Amino acid sequence: MPAVEVSRLAKRYTSTAGISDISFTAERRAVTALLGRNGAGKTTTVEICCGLRRRDSGTVRVLDRDPVAAHQELVQRVGVMPQAGGSSASGIYPSARVREVMELFAAQYAHPLAPAALLERLDLTSVAATPWRRLSGGEQQRVSLALALVGRPELVFLDEPTAGLDVHARRTAWDLIRELRSSGVAIILTTHALDEAEQLADAVVILDGGRVLATGSPADLTRGTTPELHFTAPPGLDVAALTAALPNDATANETAPGHYAVGPRVDPEVIAAVTAWCAQHGVMADNLTTASRSLESVFLDLTSAEGSP
Ligand SMILES: Nc1ncnc2c1ncn2[C@@H]1O[C@H](COP(=O)(O)OP(=O)(O)OP(=O)(O)O)[C@@H](O)[C@H]1O
Ligand SMILES: [Mg+2]
Repeated sequence: MPAVEVSRLAKRYTSTAGISDISFTAERRAVTALLGRNGAGKTTTVEICCGLRRRDSGTVRVLDRDPVAAHQELVQRVGVMPQAGGSSASGIYPSARVREVMELFAAQYAHPLAPAALLERLDLTSVAATPWRRLSGGEQQRVSLALALVGRPELVFLDEPTAGLDVHARRTAWDLIRELRSSGVAIILTTHALDEAEQLADAVVILDGGRVLATGSPADLTRGTTPELHFTAPPGLDVAALTAALPNDATANETAPGHYAVGPRVDPEVIAAVTAWCAQHGVMADNLTTASRSLESVFLDLTSAEGSP
């Protein structure tokens, strides 16, 4: 049985804002990443799954329960890290000290982790006696992550867990998330860092305008995107003329000033034709590489084609 099953979920805030049709499944012992532009519907989806917001229609099963009807039970089994600066209250008193907040949260669970060990793990020991309001943004993020984990949840929702974290803290968070997965926890996270999704996620759900555009593993989503040829050269090359010189239906595009991509697939003939054309026209092509497309490149294509809400 999956950790989360969402089917045809809809929630309208206004006639245009909200989510209109979200379906996905998140497996246990796996990281599922919800990706999408600002306003795509990630937080709304997470809040509904956590029982923090009511849906208008659709079905949601969280650990095989309804998140509204079984809220009391799920609070014990599910950890939540709300989006920083979002509308979901963190429930933390600004003047409470980090250690007190951790102990208060831990006391609500039957078998909590030891707060001190968790603080140490997230490099927060030095601020354990600091009031919440005096923490830096990244320290607040780390405390918020610790609070989501202190109850030994079976499932965690992390809404932009690494936003604002420094490079070291981001690595610590990644390690922690991987350990949680190994120990059988289901993790649902949102992120704008596509490299993070590529590194961590077993499954990716791409949202846009309140709907699901694509789902699959990062490998699924970038597969079939056979290698393209990339090179840099002076801006403004005549890509129509270059395309006319290419075999096998290959086309050349200037993706950014001075950056060129040739696809949809490359083979030795295409590479030879590109370099021959450059030689004929006295063009020095630098950084000539072939590479499969990154998740970021696939994401940009998908989301720009559909537009935002
Ligand atoms: N409380 C609210 N009242 C009215 N509209 C809202 C509310 N919360 C979100 N919305 C709207 O619903 C849509 C989805 O918002 P949501 O917060 O779910 O997006 P998101 O994908 O989490 O975006 P971000 O990446 O910026 O966090 C947006 O159009 C947003 O303006
Ligand atoms: Mg959000």
